[in-house]
Amino acid sequence: MAKLWGGRFQKSTDKKVDDFNSSIRFDKRMYKQDIKGSMAHAAMLGRCGIIPEEDSRAIIDELKNILKDIEDGKVEFLIDAEDIHMNIEKLLTDRIGDAGKRLHTGRSRNDQVALDIRMYLMDETEEIRKMLLHAMDVITELASEHTETIMPGYTHLQKAQPVTFAHHLMAYFEMLKRDFMRLDDCRGRTNVMPLGSGALAATTYPLDRYGVAKELGFDGVTMNSLDGVSDRDFVIELASCLSILMMHLSRFCEELILWSSHEFSFVEMDDAFSTGSSIMPQKKNPDVAELIRGKTGRVYGHLMGLLTTMKGLPLAYNKDMQEDKEPIFDSIDTVKLCLPVFCDMIATMTVKKDNMLKGAKGGFTNATDVADYLVKKGLPFREAHGVVGRMVYHAVTENKDLDDFTMEEFKSFSDIIEEDIYDAISMETCVNGRSVVGGPAKETVEAAIAEARKFAEQYKKE
Ligand code: ARG
Repeated sequence: MAKLWGGRFQKSTDKKVDDFNSSIRFDKRMYKQDIKGSMAHAAMLGRCGIIPEEDSRAIIDELKNILKDIEDGKVEFLIDAEDIHMNIEKLLTDRIGDAGKRLHTGRSRNDQVALDIRMYLMDETEEIRKMLLHAMDVITELASEHTETIMPGYTHLQKAQPVTFAHHLMAYFEMLKRDFMRLDDCRGRTNVMPLGSGALAATTYPLDRYGVAKELGFDGVTMNSLDGVSDRDFVIELASCLSILMMHLSRFCEELILWSSHEFSFVEMDDAFSTGSSIMPQKKNPDVAELIRGKTGRVYGHLMGLLTTMKGLPLAYNKDMQEDKEPIFDSIDTVKLCLPVFCDMIATMTVKKDNMLKGAKGGFTNATDVADYLVKKGLPFREAHGVVGRMVYHAVTENKDLDDFTMEEFKSFSDIIEEDIYDAISMETCVNGRSVVGGPAKETVEAAIAEARKFAEQYKKE
Protein backbone atom coordinates (compact mmCIF):
# COMPACT_ATOMS: atom_id res chain seq x y z
CA MET A 1 0.00 0.00 0.00
CA ALA A 2 1.30 3.47 -0.89
CA LYS A 3 2.08 5.56 2.17
CA LEU A 4 0.42 8.96 2.64
CA TRP A 5 3.96 10.24 3.23
CA GLY A 6 5.61 8.07 0.55
CA GLY A 7 6.71 10.84 -1.87
CA ARG A 8 10.37 11.07 -0.90
CA PHE A 9 10.93 7.30 -0.56
CA GLN A 10 12.37 4.96 -3.17
CA LYS A 11 11.66 1.72 -1.33
CA SER A 12 8.63 0.46 0.53
CA THR A 13 8.85 -0.07 4.27
CA ASP A 14 10.11 -3.38 5.57
CA LYS A 15 7.17 -5.54 6.63
CA LYS A 16 8.61 -5.87 10.12
CA VAL A 17 8.94 -2.09 10.36
CA ASP A 18 5.31 -1.64 9.33
CA ASP A 19 4.24 -3.88 12.20
CA PHE A 20 6.72 -2.30 14.59
CA ASN A 21 5.78 1.27 13.76
CA SER A 22 2.06 0.82 13.59
CA SER A 23 -0.07 1.93 16.50
CA ILE A 24 -3.50 1.23 15.01
CA ARG A 25 -3.84 -1.86 17.22
CA PHE A 26 -4.23 0.37 20.27
CA ASP A 27 -4.94 3.90 19.04
CA LYS A 28 -8.04 2.87 17.09
CA ARG A 29 -9.99 3.44 20.25
CA MET A 30 -9.59 7.20 19.64
CA TYR A 31 -11.53 7.04 16.35
CA LYS A 32 -14.39 9.20 17.66
CA GLN A 33 -12.10 11.94 18.93
CA ASP A 34 -10.06 11.82 15.72
CA ILE A 35 -13.15 12.26 13.58
CA LYS A 36 -14.62 14.99 15.78
CA GLY A 37 -11.31 16.85 15.67
CA SER A 38 -11.09 16.50 11.90
CA MET A 39 -14.62 17.77 11.44
CA ALA A 40 -13.89 20.88 13.52
CA HIS A 41 -10.63 21.43 11.62
CA ALA A 42 -12.33 21.01 8.24
CA ALA A 43 -15.17 23.34 9.20
CA MET A 44 -12.66 25.99 10.27
CA LEU A 45 -10.59 25.58 7.06
CA GLY A 46 -13.76 26.19 5.04
CA ARG A 47 -14.91 29.09 7.19
CA CYS A 48 -11.54 30.82 6.95
CA GLY A 49 -11.37 30.37 3.18
CA ILE A 50 -8.30 28.10 3.43
CA ILE A 51 -10.05 25.33 1.49
CA PRO A 52 -13.21 25.63 -0.68
CA GLU A 53 -16.44 25.57 1.35
CA GLU A 54 -17.82 22.68 -0.70
CA ASP A 55 -14.73 20.58 0.05
CA SER A 56 -15.14 21.36 3.74
CA ARG A 57 -18.76 20.21 3.56
CA ALA A 58 -17.87 17.06 1.61
CA ILE A 59 -15.19 16.17 4.19
CA ILE A 60 -17.55 16.66 7.11
CA ASP A 61 -20.36 14.65 5.48
CA GLU A 62 -18.07 11.76 4.65
CA LEU A 63 -16.45 11.79 8.11
CA LYS A 64 -19.97 11.34 9.52
CA ASN A 65 -20.42 8.28 7.29
CA ILE A 66 -17.05 6.92 8.32
CA LEU A 67 -17.96 7.34 11.99
CA LYS A 68 -21.17 5.41 11.43
CA ASP A 69 -19.41 2.70 9.46
CA ILE A 70 -16.81 2.26 12.21
CA GLU A 71 -19.55 2.04 14.82
CA ASP A 72 -21.41 -0.51 12.74
CA GLY A 73 -18.26 -2.60 12.56
CA LYS A 74 -17.95 -2.13 8.81
CA VAL A 75 -14.42 -0.72 8.77
CA GLU A 76 -11.31 -2.80 8.87
CA PHE A 77 -8.31 -0.78 9.96
CA LEU A 78 -5.01 -1.38 8.18
CA ILE A 79 -1.66 -1.98 9.86
CA ASP A 80 0.00 -0.37 6.82
CA ALA A 81 -1.89 2.86 7.40
CA GLU A 82 0.03 3.08 10.68
CA ASP A 83 -2.32 4.81 13.07
CA ILE A 84 -5.90 5.94 13.55
CA HIS A 85 -5.17 9.35 12.03
CA MET A 86 -3.89 8.02 8.72
CA ASN A 87 -6.42 5.19 8.61
CA ILE A 88 -9.26 7.66 8.73
CA GLU A 89 -7.61 10.09 6.31
CA LYS A 90 -7.06 7.24 3.89
CA LEU A 91 -10.68 6.09 4.13
CA LEU A 92 -11.74 9.66 3.48
CA THR A 93 -9.55 10.17 0.40
CA ASP A 94 -10.46 6.73 -0.97
CA ARG A 95 -14.08 7.79 -0.76
CA ILE A 96 -14.10 11.46 -1.83
CA GLY A 97 -10.77 11.99 -3.58
CA ASP A 98 -9.25 15.48 -3.79
CA ALA A 99 -11.50 17.12 -1.20
CA GLY A 100 -10.32 14.51 1.32
CA LYS A 101 -6.71 15.30 0.45
CA ARG A 102 -7.32 18.91 1.60
CA LEU A 103 -8.23 17.93 5.18
CA HIS A 104 -4.64 17.84 6.45
CA THR A 105 -3.96 21.46 5.38
CA GLY A 106 -2.33 23.38 8.24
CA ARG A 107 -2.23 20.30 10.44
CA SER A 108 0.31 17.65 11.38
CA ARG A 109 -0.20 14.28 12.96
CA ASN A 110 1.82 15.67 15.83
CA ASP A 111 -0.80 18.22 16.83
CA GLN A 112 -3.56 15.86 15.72
CA VAL A 113 -2.49 13.09 18.09
CA ALA A 114 -2.07 15.62 20.90
CA LEU A 115 -5.65 16.75 20.28
CA ASP A 116 -7.07 13.23 20.12
CA ILE A 117 -5.43 11.99 23.28
CA ARG A 118 -6.51 15.10 25.21
CA MET A 119 -10.10 14.64 24.11
CA TYR A 120 -10.03 10.92 24.80
CA LEU A 121 -8.61 11.34 28.28
CA MET A 122 -11.09 14.09 29.13
CA ASP A 123 -13.99 11.83 28.13
CA GLU A 124 -12.63 8.90 30.12
CA THR A 125 -11.94 11.10 33.14
CA GLU A 126 -15.61 12.05 33.23
CA GLU A 127 -16.63 8.39 33.07
CA ILE A 128 -14.30 7.49 35.90
CA ARG A 129 -15.61 10.39 37.97
CA LYS A 130 -19.16 9.09 37.53
CA MET A 131 -18.07 5.66 38.69
CA LEU A 132 -16.28 7.22 41.65
CA LEU A 133 -19.39 9.10 42.63
CA HIS A 134 -21.24 5.78 42.69
CA ALA A 135 -18.52 4.24 44.87
CA MET A 136 -18.82 7.20 47.22
CA ASP A 137 -22.59 6.59 47.41
CA VAL A 138 -22.10 2.92 48.21
CA ILE A 139 -19.67 3.79 51.00
CA THR A 140 -21.96 6.47 52.43
CA GLU A 141 -25.00 4.17 52.46
CA LEU A 142 -23.05 1.37 54.11
CA ALA A 143 -21.74 3.85 56.68
CA SER A 144 -25.27 5.01 57.49
CA GLU A 145 -26.05 1.46 58.65
CA HIS A 146 -23.05 1.27 60.96
CA THR A 147 -22.84 4.46 63.03
CA GLU A 148 -23.26 2.29 66.16
CA THR A 149 -21.10 -0.61 65.01
CA ILE A 150 -18.13 -0.33 67.34
CA MET A 151 -14.82 -1.70 66.13
CA PRO A 152 -11.20 -1.29 67.16
CA GLY A 153 -9.22 1.48 65.54
CA TYR A 154 -5.56 0.68 64.98
CA THR A 155 -2.18 2.33 64.85
CA HIS A 156 0.82 0.16 63.97
CA LEU A 157 -1.87 -2.51 63.42
CA GLN A 158 -2.08 -2.65 67.21
CA LYS A 159 -5.46 -1.99 68.79
CA ALA A 160 -5.55 1.67 69.74
CA GLN A 161 -8.95 3.21 70.46
CA PRO A 162 -12.50 2.23 69.59
CA VAL A 163 -14.15 3.80 66.55
CA THR A 164 -17.18 2.76 64.52
CA PHE A 165 -17.29 0.96 61.23
CA ALA A 166 -19.14 3.99 59.83
CA HIS A 167 -16.24 6.24 60.83
CA HIS A 168 -13.77 3.85 59.25
CA LEU A 169 -15.82 3.76 56.04
CA MET A 170 -16.11 7.52 55.91
CA ALA A 171 -12.32 7.78 55.97
CA TYR A 172 -12.44 6.07 52.57
CA PHE A 173 -15.16 8.45 51.46
CA GLU A 174 -12.73 11.32 52.11
CA MET A 175 -10.03 9.61 50.04
CA LEU A 176 -12.35 9.01 47.11
CA LYS A 177 -13.64 12.57 47.36
CA ARG A 178 -10.08 13.83 46.97
CA ASP A 179 -9.63 11.51 43.98
CA PHE A 180 -12.81 12.92 42.48
CA MET A 181 -11.57 16.50 42.87
CA ARG A 182 -8.05 15.62 41.75
CA LEU A 183 -9.38 14.13 38.52
CA ASP A 184 -11.34 17.30 37.85
CA ASP A 185 -8.27 19.39 38.46
CA CYS A 186 -6.23 17.20 36.10
CA ARG A 187 -8.97 17.45 33.48
CA GLY A 188 -8.73 21.24 33.73
CA ARG A 189 -5.08 21.15 32.64
CA THR A 190 -5.88 18.70 29.83
CA ASN A 191 -8.55 21.06 28.58
CA VAL A 192 -6.42 23.10 26.12
CA MET A 193 -6.58 22.70 22.38
CA PRO A 194 -3.26 21.97 20.60
CA LEU A 195 -4.28 22.10 16.88
CA GLY A 196 -2.38 24.88 15.16
CA SER A 197 0.91 23.77 16.68
CA GLY A 198 1.53 21.94 13.41
CA ALA A 199 4.47 19.57 13.37
CA LEU A 200 6.33 21.79 15.84
CA ALA A 201 6.50 25.35 14.48
CA ALA A 202 2.80 26.14 13.98
CA THR A 203 1.67 27.05 10.47
CA THR A 204 1.52 29.78 7.85
CA TYR A 205 -2.23 29.35 7.34
CA PRO A 206 -4.44 31.82 9.19
CA LEU A 207 -6.11 29.20 11.36
CA ASP A 208 -8.88 30.18 13.75
CA ARG A 209 -7.57 28.22 16.71
CA TYR A 210 -10.03 29.68 19.19
CA GLY A 211 -12.94 28.79 16.92
CA VAL A 212 -11.80 25.16 16.75
CA ALA A 213 -11.33 25.10 20.53
CA LYS A 214 -14.82 26.46 21.05
CA GLU A 215 -16.41 23.99 18.67
CA LEU A 216 -14.68 21.08 20.40
CA GLY A 217 -15.61 22.34 23.86
CA PHE A 218 -12.10 23.26 25.00
CA ASP A 219 -11.57 26.07 27.50
CA GLY A 220 -8.47 27.43 25.78
CA VAL A 221 -5.63 26.82 23.32
CA THR A 222 -1.99 25.82 23.88
CA MET A 223 0.31 28.84 23.90
CA ASN A 224 3.54 27.46 22.45
CA SER A 225 3.68 25.24 19.39
CA LEU A 226 6.73 23.26 20.58
CA ASP A 227 5.04 22.56 23.88
CA GLY A 228 1.72 21.92 22.15
CA VAL A 229 3.08 18.84 20.37
CA SER A 230 5.50 17.60 23.01
CA ASP A 231 3.58 18.04 26.25
CA ARG A 232 2.39 14.80 27.81
CA ASP A 233 2.16 16.14 31.38
CA PHE A 234 -1.58 15.59 31.31
CA VAL A 235 -1.10 11.89 30.54
CA ILE A 236 1.35 11.54 33.42
CA GLU A 237 -0.92 13.52 35.72
CA LEU A 238 -3.86 11.27 34.94
CA ALA A 239 -1.67 8.19 35.47
CA SER A 240 -0.76 9.68 38.83
CA CYS A 241 -4.38 10.44 39.79
CA LEU A 242 -5.34 6.89 38.86
CA SER A 243 -2.40 5.50 40.84
CA ILE A 244 -3.53 7.37 43.94
CA LEU A 245 -7.09 6.20 43.41
CA MET A 246 -5.93 2.58 43.09
CA MET A 247 -3.79 3.04 46.20
CA HIS A 248 -6.95 3.94 48.10
CA LEU A 249 -8.89 0.94 46.79
CA SER A 250 -5.90 -1.25 47.52
CA ARG A 251 -5.63 -0.10 51.14
CA PHE A 252 -9.31 -0.84 51.68
CA CYS A 253 -8.93 -4.22 49.98
CA GLU A 254 -5.93 -5.04 52.15
CA GLU A 255 -8.07 -4.38 55.22
CA LEU A 256 -10.92 -6.50 53.88
CA ILE A 257 -8.49 -9.35 53.22
CA LEU A 258 -7.17 -9.11 56.78
CA TRP A 259 -10.66 -8.79 58.22
CA SER A 260 -11.83 -11.85 56.28
CA SER A 261 -9.19 -13.98 57.98
CA HIS A 262 -10.22 -16.32 60.75
CA GLU A 263 -8.06 -14.31 63.13
CA PHE A 264 -10.02 -11.07 62.63
CA SER A 265 -13.33 -12.35 61.32
CA PHE A 266 -14.83 -8.85 61.07
CA VAL A 267 -16.35 -9.35 57.61
CA GLU A 268 -17.26 -12.14 55.27
CA MET A 269 -17.34 -11.64 51.53
CA ASP A 270 -20.47 -12.82 49.79
CA ASP A 271 -20.18 -16.20 48.06
CA ALA A 272 -20.67 -14.41 44.75
CA PHE A 273 -17.52 -12.36 45.46
CA SER A 274 -15.26 -15.15 46.71
CA THR A 275 -13.65 -18.21 45.24
CA GLY A 276 -12.63 -21.61 46.52
CA SER A 277 -9.50 -23.71 46.37
CA SER A 278 -8.94 -26.59 43.96
CA ILE A 279 -7.38 -28.66 46.75
CA MET A 280 -8.56 -27.38 50.13
CA PRO A 281 -12.32 -27.93 50.38
CA GLN A 282 -12.80 -25.55 53.31
CA LYS A 283 -11.34 -22.47 51.61
CA LYS A 284 -13.19 -19.28 50.79
CA ASN A 285 -10.80 -16.71 49.46
CA PRO A 286 -11.30 -12.94 49.02
CA ASP A 287 -9.88 -13.02 45.48
CA VAL A 288 -11.69 -9.90 44.31
CA ALA A 289 -10.06 -7.76 46.98
CA GLU A 290 -6.70 -9.41 46.29
CA LEU A 291 -6.96 -8.75 42.57
CA ILE A 292 -7.78 -5.09 43.08
CA ARG A 293 -4.76 -4.84 45.37
CA GLY A 294 -2.71 -6.70 42.75
CA LYS A 295 -3.83 -4.58 39.83
CA THR A 296 -2.68 -1.49 41.69
CA GLY A 297 0.84 -2.62 40.82
CA ARG A 298 0.34 -2.37 37.08
CA VAL A 299 -1.22 1.11 37.39
CA TYR A 300 1.80 2.32 39.39
CA GLY A 301 4.04 0.68 36.81
CA HIS A 302 2.42 2.64 34.01
CA LEU A 303 3.05 5.91 35.85
CA MET A 304 6.73 5.05 36.20
CA GLY A 305 6.86 3.89 32.59
CA LEU A 306 5.40 7.15 31.30
CA LEU A 307 7.75 9.29 33.36
CA THR A 308 10.66 7.26 32.07
CA THR A 309 9.53 7.46 28.44
CA MET A 310 9.39 11.25 28.65
CA LYS A 311 12.49 11.93 30.72
CA GLY A 312 15.08 12.20 27.97
CA LEU A 313 13.07 13.55 25.05
CA PRO A 314 14.38 16.67 23.34
CA LEU A 315 11.78 19.09 21.98
CA ALA A 316 9.53 18.66 20.20
CA TYR A 317 7.63 15.55 19.04
CA ASN A 318 9.48 12.23 19.11
CA LYS A 319 8.07 8.88 18.10
CA ASP A 320 8.78 7.63 21.62
CA MET A 321 5.63 9.48 22.55
CA GLN A 322 3.52 6.92 20.74
CA GLU A 323 4.38 4.79 23.78
CA ASP A 324 2.14 6.98 25.94
CA LYS A 325 -1.04 5.26 24.84
CA GLU A 326 -0.91 1.64 25.95
CA PRO A 327 0.01 2.47 29.55
CA ILE A 328 -2.56 5.20 30.06
CA PHE A 329 -5.25 3.15 28.30
CA ASP A 330 -4.47 0.18 30.53
CA SER A 331 -4.57 2.37 33.65
CA ILE A 332 -7.99 3.64 32.60
CA ASP A 333 -9.26 0.16 31.77
CA THR A 334 -7.97 -1.22 35.05
CA VAL A 335 -9.64 1.47 37.15
CA LYS A 336 -12.90 1.05 35.22
CA LEU A 337 -12.71 -2.69 35.79
CA CYS A 338 -11.98 -2.41 39.50
CA LEU A 339 -14.45 0.26 40.62
CA PRO A 340 -17.76 -1.53 39.89
CA VAL A 341 -16.60 -4.87 41.30
CA PHE A 342 -15.24 -3.08 44.36
CA CYS A 343 -18.63 -1.41 44.92
CA ASP A 344 -20.62 -4.62 44.62
CA MET A 345 -18.16 -6.51 46.79
CA ILE A 346 -18.47 -4.09 49.72
CA ALA A 347 -22.23 -3.70 49.29
CA THR A 348 -22.77 -7.45 49.60
CA MET A 349 -20.28 -8.40 52.32
CA THR A 350 -21.51 -9.45 55.76
CA VAL A 351 -20.34 -7.23 58.60
CA LYS A 352 -19.82 -9.24 61.77
CA LYS A 353 -20.77 -6.59 64.30
CA ASP A 354 -20.32 -8.82 67.35
CA ASN A 355 -16.77 -9.70 66.43
CA MET A 356 -15.97 -6.08 65.76
CA LEU A 357 -17.26 -5.12 69.20
CA LYS A 358 -15.37 -8.00 70.80
CA GLY A 359 -12.26 -6.80 69.01
CA ALA A 360 -12.80 -3.28 70.25
CA LYS A 361 -13.08 -4.48 73.84
CA GLY A 362 -9.91 -6.50 74.26
CA GLY A 363 -6.51 -4.83 74.24
CA PHE A 364 -7.12 -1.86 76.56
CA THR A 365 -8.55 0.38 73.85
CA ASN A 366 -10.15 2.46 76.64
CA ALA A 367 -6.89 3.13 78.50
CA THR A 368 -6.74 6.73 77.21
CA ASP A 369 -10.27 7.22 78.50
CA VAL A 370 -9.27 6.02 81.98
CA ALA A 371 -6.49 8.62 81.91
CA ASP A 372 -8.94 11.29 80.69
CA TYR A 373 -11.27 10.30 83.56
CA LEU A 374 -8.48 10.96 86.06
CA VAL A 375 -7.69 14.28 84.36
CA LYS A 376 -11.33 15.34 84.72
CA LYS A 377 -11.02 14.55 88.43
CA GLY A 378 -8.03 16.89 88.71
CA LEU A 379 -4.93 14.79 88.03
CA PRO A 380 -2.39 16.27 85.55
CA PHE A 381 -2.42 14.23 82.29
CA ARG A 382 1.20 13.04 82.49
CA GLU A 383 0.59 11.69 85.99
CA ALA A 384 -2.68 10.04 84.92
CA HIS A 385 -0.80 8.38 82.02
CA GLY A 386 1.59 6.81 84.55
CA VAL A 387 -1.23 5.59 86.82
CA VAL A 388 -3.07 3.96 83.91
CA GLY A 389 0.16 2.41 82.64
CA ARG A 390 0.51 0.65 86.00
CA MET A 391 -3.14 -0.42 85.83
CA VAL A 392 -2.56 -1.94 82.37
CA TYR A 393 0.48 -3.82 83.66
CA HIS A 394 -1.62 -5.19 86.50
CA ALA A 395 -4.43 -6.14 84.07
CA VAL A 396 -1.97 -7.95 81.79
CA THR A 397 -0.57 -10.00 84.68
CA GLU A 398 -4.10 -10.76 85.91
CA ASN A 399 -5.26 -11.50 82.34
CA LYS A 400 -8.26 -9.15 82.52
CA ASP A 401 -9.57 -5.93 80.94
CA LEU A 402 -9.70 -2.54 82.65
CA ASP A 403 -13.51 -2.74 82.75
CA ASP A 404 -13.19 -5.97 84.76
CA PHE A 405 -11.44 -4.23 87.70
CA THR A 406 -13.33 -4.26 91.00
CA MET A 407 -13.79 -0.93 92.77
CA GLU A 408 -11.09 -1.99 95.26
CA GLU A 409 -8.66 -2.65 92.44
CA PHE A 410 -9.36 0.77 90.93
CA LYS A 411 -8.98 2.44 94.33
CA SER A 412 -5.64 0.73 94.90
CA PHE A 413 -4.29 2.74 91.94
CA SER A 414 -6.03 6.02 92.69
CA ASP A 415 -8.51 6.91 95.38
CA ILE A 416 -10.15 9.61 93.25
CA ILE A 417 -11.78 6.87 91.17
CA GLU A 418 -15.53 6.41 91.84
CA GLU A 419 -18.36 4.15 90.63
CA ASP A 420 -18.86 6.39 87.57
CA ILE A 421 -15.60 5.00 86.12
CA TYR A 422 -17.44 2.02 84.60
CA ASP A 423 -19.71 4.19 82.51
CA ALA A 424 -16.88 6.59 81.65
CA ILE A 425 -14.79 3.87 80.04
CA SER A 426 -17.49 1.84 78.28
CA MET A 427 -16.94 1.43 74.54
CA GLU A 428 -20.03 3.56 73.81
CA THR A 429 -18.78 6.43 75.97
CA CYS A 430 -15.30 6.20 74.46
CA VAL A 431 -16.71 6.52 70.94
CA ASN A 432 -19.52 8.96 71.52
CA GLY A 433 -17.47 11.27 73.71
CA ARG A 434 -15.28 11.95 70.67
CA SER A 435 -17.72 14.32 69.08
CA VAL A 436 -15.24 16.96 67.99
CA VAL A 437 -15.52 17.68 64.25
CA GLY A 438 -13.96 14.74 62.40
CA GLY A 439 -14.48 12.37 65.34
CA PRO A 440 -16.17 8.95 65.52
CA ALA A 441 -19.17 9.89 67.72
CA LYS A 442 -22.49 8.77 66.28
CA GLU A 443 -23.86 12.30 65.83
CA THR A 444 -20.59 13.53 64.31
CA VAL A 445 -20.46 10.71 61.78
CA GLU A 446 -24.13 11.26 60.98
CA ALA A 447 -23.30 14.88 60.20
CA ALA A 448 -20.38 13.72 58.01
CA ILE A 449 -22.72 11.37 56.17
CA ALA A 450 -25.20 14.20 55.58
CA GLU A 451 -22.36 16.34 54.19
CA ALA A 452 -21.24 13.46 51.98
CA ARG A 453 -24.74 13.06 50.56
CA LYS A 454 -24.92 16.79 49.88
CA PHE A 455 -21.57 16.66 48.08
CA ALA A 456 -22.69 13.78 45.86
CA GLU A 457 -26.03 15.43 45.05
CA GLN A 458 -24.32 18.63 44.00
CA TYR A 459 -22.19 16.76 41.43
CA LYS A 460 -24.98 14.53 40.23
CA LYS A 461 -26.83 17.63 39.09
CA GLU A 462 -23.95 18.67 36.79
N1 ARG B 1 0.86 7.43 16.01
C1 ARG B 1 1.60 8.60 16.37
C2 ARG B 1 1.62 8.76 17.89
O1 ARG B 1 0.88 8.12 18.54
C3 ARG B 1 0.99 9.81 15.75
C4 ARG B 1 1.93 10.92 15.48
C5 ARG B 1 2.94 10.52 14.49
N2 ARG B 1 3.69 11.61 14.00
C6 ARG B 1 4.73 11.43 13.23
N3 ARG B 1 5.35 12.47 12.80
N4 ARG B 1 5.16 10.24 12.93
O2 ARG B 1 2.39 9.52 18.43
